[in-house]
Amino acid sequence: MFELPPLPYDHAALEPVISRATMHLHHDKHHKKYVETLNKLLGDAAPRSLEDVVLEAFADDGSRKLFNNAAQAWNHTFFWNAMSPRRQTLDGSLVQAVARDFGGAEALKAAFVKEGAAHFGSGWVWLAAEGEALKVLSTHDAEDLLIHRGLTPLLVCDLWEHAYYLDHKNDREGFLNAWFDGLPNWSFAESQYAAARGEGKAWTHPAPVEPARGTAALGERSN
Ligand SMILES: [Fe+2]
Repeated sequence: MFELPPLPYDHAALEPVISRATMHLHHDKHHKKYVETLNKLLGDAAPRSLEDVVLEAFADDGSRKLFNNAAQAWNHTFFWNAMSPRRQTLDGSLVQAVARDFGGAEALKAAFVKEGAAHFGSGWVWLAAEGEALKVLSTHDAEDLLIHRGLTPLLVCDLWEHAYYLDHKNDREGFLNAWFDGLPNWSFAESQYAAARGEGKAWTHPAPVEPARGTAALGERSN
């Protein structure tokens, strides 16, 4: 079974762009529900990585519900890690890559905000790398980049209304502008970019755990 990974920071750490109330709803309710449904759908199936679950479910036409919940579980954990409560600036090898592929940080922001604001309905807006090349793209509903071979995600922002409606109402563009100015975890993006170029390993979701069976199992787990 998969566990709901704890947030890597306090619920209020991303204020004022994302409020404590939104984070409680988003992580403790929405994300949790995806994980619970994923576990229910997997039943007693042998634990395997969430990446494998997503890819196998995508390849199986009859597993749309499993794909949606597995991909949403993956996307949300990636999203929390792709944000930082400490304002970061673009740094390292990404500075040159952003200048080469977008013309600079402000142009990247404009492309990211434009893509996310124009995206119809629910989904995700990504900064991704295909080898050296950087791209901005959006995906619908639960769709993630695991199913796009060759693309490594660097950053993502959630475009579902539950991500911003409490704090920004219908102003998705305002949310994306504030998000891009204050929340990207550029050091995380840098390590993902290195992985895209074959240096190091890309981020993976925490592995599943064996469900605890009785007090003996619980005792073992607490030691
Ligand atoms: Fe979400």
